[in-house]
Amino acid sequence: MANQEDNFKKVISHAKEYGYVFQSSEIYDGLSAIYDYGQNGAELKKNIREYWWKAMVQLNDNIVGLDSAIFMHPTIWKASGHVDAFNDPLIDNKDSKKRYRADVLIEDYVGKLDSKIEKEVKKATKRFGESFDKEQFLSTNQRVVDYKEQGDAILKRMGKSLEKEDLADIRALIEELDIACPMSGSKNWTDVKQFNLMFGTKLGASAESAMDLYLRPETAQGIFVNFLNVQKSGRMKIPFGIAQTGKAFRNEIVARQFIFRMREFEQMEMQFFIQPGTQKEWYDVWKEKRMKWHLSLGLGQDNYRFHDHDKLAHYADAAADIEFRFPFGFKELEGIHSRTDFDLGSHEKFSGKKLQYFDHETNKNYVPYVLETSIGLDRMFLAVFSNSLQEEELENGTTRTVLKLPAVLAPNKAAILPLLKKDGLPEVAHEIVDDLKWDFNVIYDEKDAVGRRYRRQDANGTPFCITVDHQTLEDKTVTIRHRDSMEQERVAIADLKEIIHEAVDMKSWLKKMD
Ligand code: GAP
Repeated sequence: MANQEDNFKKVISHAKEYGYVFQSSEIYDGLSAIYDYGQNGAELKKNIREYWWKAMVQLNDNIVGLDSAIFMHPTIWKASGHVDAFNDPLIDNKDSKKRYRADVLIEDYVGKLDSKIEKEVKKATKRFGESFDKEQFLSTNQRVVDYKEQGDAILKRMGKSLEKEDLADIRALIEELDIACPMSGSKNWTDVKQFNLMFGTKLGASAESAMDLYLRPETAQGIFVNFLNVQKSGRMKIPFGIAQTGKAFRNEIVARQFIFRMREFEQMEMQFFIQPGTQKEWYDVWKEKRMKWHLSLGLGQDNYRFHDHDKLAHYADAAADIEFRFPFGFKELEGIHSRTDFDLGSHEKFSGKKLQYFDHETNKNYVPYVLETSIGLDRMFLAVFSNSLQEEELENGTTRTVLKLPAVLAPNKAAILPLLKKDGLPEVAHEIVDDLKWDFNVIYDEKDAVGRRYRRQDANGTPFCITVDHQTLEDKTVTIRHRDSMEQERVAIADLKEIIHEAVDMKSWLKKMD
């Protein structure tokens, strides 16, 4: 546990030191759970957004993009259920005065049971070696079966109680499981209360005429209310999807995990409109597609898992999370939700406008069902960044800090380094920068000895260092150093573009999804 915490602290301080993520309003002591992205962070975030957009919009003939406004008519949030049901059950610890989400305390308890199962599996893998059958072990080992049954029963009870709004039972569950405040160890809890997560604001010049608005807590509703606009203007035929990325705002109760849970964050959402009755089929298709997108980045298959929901949101008939192994354990990265006709049906009722699709084959109108994929861009950023940050022991006994970002996402693709600040080497290095910058983000770096510059670029996540030396002046070649292997090779300046392109080209990365 201490190790996990240390690793996470390293991630946060590295993100600051190398211009990825800063605390918002830092010189005024910051705002809790709000962050700014620095010079490298803004690039990494943009690259992740583009990687998603390319896979979602550009590579699917039947998915189009949208950019809807953050401010929306307040009735939208009544129709969507957010005014009445977008609540978190919160509980306070009377001794530490810390506030928690009651469901998260219970889920963390179940998470500990999952870690125990993982430990048993690890031990057994060691003991049985090649002959180990994991599936069989999981279904027959009594201890593991007990942990699993216990966890399932807890989550089922919690799901039911949340559905019935039986908050007294949620508190009873916390007491029965003997859950203590993670900060103080105290078990002195208040009752559980509901807390609405939407931020309110006002539109209008005077207090009397101002209209109460909400900052959108998800981008999805902008898609639903534009369903007919896009369908008609784009002559879209079902099945088709609408995708958008943009800011969302939630007044989160528990906001202690850096950019994992923020009060202002960015979502990348896609709503896929389908015929009623086909939702199960599309649910499976999108679960698989989205997992392939994640795996294409090469962060390691073992770092992902699906988690099917027992506790369903008010709009869903099935839901799963893609969970990622963050520095603090497996947590939700993306949600895949079968939303039925809840949203379009509800907007029909509240707006009085028909939101239906006319099927020319059957000559019938219907309210489409919706399959949603929803991922937090900041959470994806944290997944990529934390997984890439590594301390490596080198053969000479030293260690290096290296940020092994997938090259396709790296903020800078190459650093161009003149070996010395004289003899015409900087001029040639600048010429290389001026040529490459039309195709890639590249940087020029001449400060410090070349070895230190390599280390700096390793820690920055730059996949290539290109060094200009005296031989360059004679034969127009440079050394190119690969960040991950630290191997160096001599190549012609004329070949640089192709070498970098091969490593960072989105096409070759996304092709891994096929
Ligand atoms: N439209 C459905 C929806 O918004 P959600 O599960 O509430 O579903 C989807 O959110 C994704 O948005 C999550 O899987 C997570 O990646 C991201 N997300 C949600 N709340 C967040 C927060 N407070 N900070 C950062 N990311 C968040």
